[in-house]
Amino acid sequence: MASRGSIYLSIIFFFLAILPLLASAFPGFFQGKNSDSPFQNDGVKTLFGTPIFRGEGENREASLPSNYAGEPKKPFEYESGAKKAETGIEGTTKGGLREGFYKRTCPRAELIVNDVMNKAFQNDSGLAAAILRLFFHDCFVTGCDASILLDETPSGEGVEKASGANGMFVRGFEAIDLIKRKLEYECPGVVSCADILAFANRESLVFSGLPSYNVAAGRRDSLASLAKNVENNVPLPDQTTQQLTALFNRKGLTVEEMIVLTGAHSIGIAHCANIIDRFWDQQKRKDIEPGYHGAVGFSCGNNPKQIFPFDTVTEYKMDSHFYKQLLNKRALIESDQNMARDPLAANIMKTLADDQEGWFGKFIKTIIKLGEIEVLTGDQGEIREQCRAFNQKTRGIFG
Ligand code: HEM
Repeated sequence: MASRGSIYLSIIFFFLAILPLLASAFPGFFQGKNSDSPFQNDGVKTLFGTPIFRGEGENREASLPSNYAGEPKKPFEYESGAKKAETGIEGTTKGGLREGFYKRTCPRAELIVNDVMNKAFQNDSGLAAAILRLFFHDCFVTGCDASILLDETPSGEGVEKASGANGMFVRGFEAIDLIKRKLEYECPGVVSCADILAFANRESLVFSGLPSYNVAAGRRDSLASLAKNVENNVPLPDQTTQQLTALFNRKGLTVEEMIVLTGAHSIGIAHCANIIDRFWDQQKRKDIEPGYHGAVGFSCGNNPKQIFPFDTVTEYKMDSHFYKQLLNKRALIESDQNMARDPLAANIMKTLADDQEGWFGKFIKTIIKLGEIEVLTGDQGEIREQCRAFNQKTRGIFG
C-alpha cells in the first residue's frame, strides 16, 4: 500500500501537470485581470500576471523584445549617477529619483512602455527621433515635468507645445497617450507622464542602436505649461556656439556634454522652414559643401513644410560618423555648422567621430543627467490621469 507521503506527492505532480491547461482555459484569471480588458494580447510577457523581470538592473534585456536591429542588446555597464552620500538613500540620484521606483506600485510599467513603443516603431521609424526631441524640449523648459504634453494650462494662456520653437516641430504625443491609457488601466494614478517620457526616450535610443540603460524614476507632473517659458530655454537653429554654450551651461551641462547630446541629430529630420534661409544666404552658403547645398536646396524648394533627414545614409541609426558630416561642412542646420567651426567644439567632435562606443557611453551618461534637470518629486506637482490635461481639468472642476 502506498504511503501517505507518496499520495501527497502524486497529487502535487498532477496539479503541476495540468497547470498549463488551466492557464490557457482561464487566461483572465491567471493574469489577474478582467478578460474584457481592452489591452488583452498586448504582447507583454507575463507569467501568471507577473512581468518576467530578473530583478532590477539585472540582465533586464533578457525579458524584453529584441530591438529593431533584430539582435538582443548586451547589458550596458555605466555609472548610474546614484549618489548615496548626497541623499543618504541608496540608489537615489541627486535629483531625488530612484531606479526601480515602480517595482512595488506598478511592476510592469517599464515593460508596458517598452511594448507600446516597439509596436509604434514598426509603423513609424521616425518616432524615436521625435520622442528624443520631445524629451529634450520638456527637460529644458521648467525641467523634466511633462509640461510639454499639456494641451491647456489653468490660466488659459498659450502652452509650451504651441510655441514657435515647438509647434509643428514636435510630435509623438499619441504614443505617450497610449502608454498612459495602458498604465492607468494597469495601475491607476501611479506612473507620472514625466516618467513615461523618460522611459519612452530610453526605448527610442535603444531602437536607434544604443545599448539599454536603467532609468531612475519618481518624477512628478507639472501643474502648468506656458509658451513664454520656451523662449530662451530651447536652443534655436540660428544661434551661435557662444549662445548655445551659455544656455547649456545654465542647465548644468558642459560644452562637451552639449556636443555629445547634439549628436542626437544623427537621427531624424528637419523641416525646410528651419533650414532654407541659410541655404539662400550668399554669405552663409559659403560654409556649405556645394554638393550638399545642391541636394538640400533642390529638395526643399520653396516648401517650408518639406522635410530633410539630418543623416541621409542612416536616418534611424545613432552613429558618431555624423560628426564627420558636420566637420565636412554638410550640416543641415546652422547651429550644428557653427559648432563645427568652433575650434574647441570641433576638437571634441573629432574625438567622438572615431569612437562610436565611447560616444554611446557619454551619450547615455548625459541623457541621464538631462533627465534629472529640475524634476518635481515627493508631493510636488501631481500624477496626471491624462498626459494632456492637469487633473482638475480632467475631473471637470475647471472649464
Ligand atoms: C544644440 C542646440 C540644438 C539646436 C539649435 C537644435 C535644433 C533643432 C532643429 C531646428 C531641429 C529640426 C526640427 C524640425 O524642423 O522639425 C532639430 C531636430 C532634432 N533635434 Fe535638435 N537641436 C539642438 C540640440 C538637440 C539635442 C541636445 C537633442 C537631444 C538630446 C536634439 C534632438 C533632436 C532630434 C532627435 C531631432 C529630430 C526630430 C525629428 O526627427 O522629429 N537636439 N533640432
